[in-house]
Amino acid sequence: MNIRTVATTPFADQKPGTSGLRKKVPVFQQPHYLENFVQSIFDSLEGYQGETLVVGGDGRYYNRQAIQIILKMAAANGFGRVLVGQGGILSTPAASCVIRKNQAFGGIVLSASHNPGGPNEDFGIKYNISNGGPAPEKVTEAIFARSKKIDQYRILEAADVDLDQLGSAKLGDLTVEVIDAVADYAGLMESLFDFDRIHQLLVGGQFRMCIDSMHAVTGPYARAIFEQRLGAPTGTVLNGIPLEDFGGGHPDPNLVYAHDLVQILFGSNAPDFGAASDGDGDRNMILGSKFFVTPSDSLAVLAANAKLVPGYKAGLAGIARSMPTSQAADRVAAKLGIDCYETPTGWKFFGNLLDAGKATLCGEESFGTGSDHVREKDGLWAVLFWLNILAVRQESVKQIVQEHWQQYGRNVYSRHDYEAVDSDRAATLIKQVNNQMPTLPGKKFGAYEVEYCDDFSYTDPVDGSISKNQGIRVGFTDGSRIVFRLSGTGTQGATLRLYLESYEPNVAKHGLDPQDALADLITIADEIAQIRESTGMDRPTVIT
Ligand code: G1P
Ligand code: ZN
Repeated sequence: MNIRTVATTPFADQKPGTSGLRKKVPVFQQPHYLENFVQSIFDSLEGYQGETLVVGGDGRYYNRQAIQIILKMAAANGFGRVLVGQGGILSTPAASCVIRKNQAFGGIVLSASHNPGGPNEDFGIKYNISNGGPAPEKVTEAIFARSKKIDQYRILEAADVDLDQLGSAKLGDLTVEVIDAVADYAGLMESLFDFDRIHQLLVGGQFRMCIDSMHAVTGPYARAIFEQRLGAPTGTVLNGIPLEDFGGGHPDPNLVYAHDLVQILFGSNAPDFGAASDGDGDRNMILGSKFFVTPSDSLAVLAANAKLVPGYKAGLAGIARSMPTSQAADRVAAKLGIDCYETPTGWKFFGNLLDAGKATLCGEESFGTGSDHVREKDGLWAVLFWLNILAVRQESVKQIVQEHWQQYGRNVYSRHDYEAVDSDRAATLIKQVNNQMPTLPGKKFGAYEVEYCDDFSYTDPVDGSISKNQGIRVGFTDGSRIVFRLSGTGTQGATLRLYLESYEPNVAKHGLDPQDALADLITIADEIAQIRESTGMDRPTVIT
């Protein structure tokens, strides 16, 4: 066995963002770049000697090469066993499931989520802890601190492992097990949802659905679950073959990027149900026939109907949502008499609440929904949850959401993204809004009066850790909100996210287009932040 200790020098830019370290592929391909980061992860952990590590990714360009490096480094650093998905594939929620099921020490997930893939596109790496969830900030900060000092890494000199052959192999003293990427995850789904009832719905001849896997990781999972186990017709899964560049697409399930699916669901003879997932399978978009369900509404509807689903029939302990997510879920929580937690953006903030049994369902406005079944958001889980509800209620998606609004009122919601803004300009914009913070409360903008303005700070109710500067909130006396936040996942310049929300109790106005209903708030946001002037952009690049 030949373990090499390689001398290296730090890279200054290895700070993990909202969800791991994301850079362009050529950045990761620089000599020592990936190795430095992986060694920084290992150096920040304690007690992993002889333990199990889970490794897998979304199949994007550089996935296989990165996995070979990680396996050899895991061997040289003393892990006992690595479980790796066949072909190097594991969706993010499946990786979380495998970590939990095998009581692994942790996992390394290779993905840049919904960002495009290819030789000049994005790659990413993220460490998950033993609960199956993203490493909390204290771990990511330790990794970053280590990356700034690192001077050597350890790697085994050995031939590559065959990632396509199921079974066990030895890499030095390390056992590498290539596992079925789908089986554990599909089994978990079957334990939560009423597969018989969903099967009846799908084969009854009345109901038609399609799923767009966007040439990303969920293809094999969706085919196995929907077409093979649940009996949906072959072809239900569109773009089901994972490709290293996602077929040149942008694997983000929203109205802009999932255009194939949107065309079908808004076209003539549209099916009853459509869904899409992102690059690594943790996001979802839910569509009914000619109807879009906002992720914030989706969380609220799932919570309100959870008792119809076997895995949740005992009721929910609580609900958690990220701060910019609409307050629709809060209304459901109030009705159910359970707590609703408001956390900073990023799934890592849900981990403690889930572990402590304080929350059962979680969601983000960014097309993320999940529960305590794993510690990541889970795209196909959300699809199955919706199908289970549809199978029981025998109503359309649109009917279910509209009835929800009738009962709770509608939290009208939209997010405007300004992508690839010059970083300095974006920082100036945020600074300008920050400067106004003391003077905004009490200020009137037409019929709207500012009630509060703050930079969101979160104290974790479980471990007391504090996360500051999580986005500027401007709240109005009628309950409307505007939130300004800079993205922590981009790899090019800055992305400004503007989140808009108002509350509409009047059923007669529930049919309004959100952009019209929110027009006043959109103008006010521009007045406060001078978005058009500061970004030099006339309109957002993406509206969801
Ligand atoms: C974005 C989303 C956030 C999500 C993250 C990872 O982060 O806004 O909700 O958790 O991707 O999928 P952002 O780019 O806004 O930092
Ligand atoms: Zn993702």
